[in-house]
Amino acid sequence: MKILVLKGSPHIKGTSNTLVSEFIRGAKEKGHKIEEIDVAHALLHPCLGCDRCAINGTCIQKDDGNEILNKILSSDCLVFVTPVYYFGMSAQLKTLIDRFYAKNSAITNKHFKVIYIACAWNDDDMVMKALDAHLDILTSYLEMNEIGRILAKGAGYPSAIKPSYLKAAYELGENLEV
Ligand SMILES: Cc1cc2nc3c(=O)[nH]c(=O)nc-3n(C[C@H](O)[C@H](O)[C@H](O)COP(=O)(O)O)c2cc1C
Repeated sequence: MKILVLKGSPHIKGTSNTLVSEFIRGAKEKGHKIEEIDVAHALLHPCLGCDRCAINGTCIQKDDGNEILNKILSSDCLVFVTPVYYFGMSAQLKTLIDRFYAKNSAITNKHFKVIYIACAWNDDDMVMKALDAHLDILTSYLEMNEIGRILAKGAGYPSAIKPSYLKAAYELGENLEV
């Protein structure tokens, strides 16, 4: 399966990228083809809401957005990776998701397999609630088939990630059907 990992943290060696690297290790061992995009460091401007994409399906902005969207459309499975910022996903990842607007129908028609990986500092009942609900709605609206979600609480820096989350990420990759 062609898996595209969309990394939304500005910390290249940070917590969420550490966690997803375990997923990648497992998925590669299983024989999946993985491509990673560092969304947080891509040149990506926010959607302007100009609706010009409604004319020809291509965003008018001259940045990395259209190339990333094309890579998304040639994948089978999307992995969204984010730190928790104020109870939601990072602005870096959300900026990319807003740009889906230019290809909304093409994306929903693909019925992507989807995986979510997130890390937060706090370790309480509240910290993942809003993100969890947002991801449910996103999955449903974009007509994706979710195959995994790891929301790691109490994971404020890489060495704080609980071994159970690292194991779950590795096993998620290792058990993915080819
Ligand atoms: C702008 C900002 C907002 C944050 N908001 C939250 C939050 O709402 N809840 C929380 O538990 N941690 C919050 N954190 C902490 C990060 O989620 C946490 O340190 C995470 O491990 C960072 O992941 P990364 O290394 O992949 O970027 C925030 C950090 C930043 C920089």
